[in-house]
Amino acid sequence: MTLEAIAREIRAHRGCGFEPCETCTRLVPGEGPPTARVVVVGEAPGAREDATGRPFVGPAGKLLDVLLAEAGLAREAVFITNVVKARPPGNRDPRADEVAHHRPWLEAQLAVIEPELVVPLGRHALRHFAPEARIGEVHGTRVGERLFPLYHPAAALHDPRLRETLLADARALGAALA
Ligand code: URA
Repeated sequence: MTLEAIAREIRAHRGCGFEPCETCTRLVPGEGPPTARVVVVGEAPGAREDATGRPFVGPAGKLLDVLLAEAGLAREAVFITNVVKARPPGNRDPRADEVAHHRPWLEAQLAVIEPELVVPLGRHALRHFAPEARIGEVHGTRVGERLFPLYHPAAALHDPRLRETLLADARALGAALA
């Protein structure tokens, strides 16, 4: 399967009964090239992502762009997606059964791309890959073969100290790729 075929399947998905899939404006597959060395994985689309169909295009996305630049990565060179492809109503946390429902799409995307590093953003995305790891302990470090967790940029929007930590972690990500 190609990334485009996976994206088509996600965009056409409806009628499963899970609330985010039923109530979202559109599902957001993610975007980026199949040759990406890095896959960034957020939690779920927010309001702007739901409206546009593109990942990380709101305020958290602006900071993500800064972080990628700090890591020496062009946004266009990275595959950016979410664990859950549909916006939960009111931006509530996705439930475990909803995460499980969406999981095969992320797995399929990772199987096509085979990235050097997977960058989960925040504890919800991290839990998907390493349920036992704590974001406060492993942020900015390589975990196992190919995980490189960062704090979620949304958490740093109103916290200057966390923003500094994120920028330093982004530089560490760049160094891990060098
Ligand atoms: N937050 C996320 O986790 N994902 C997005 O796509 C946007 C904001």
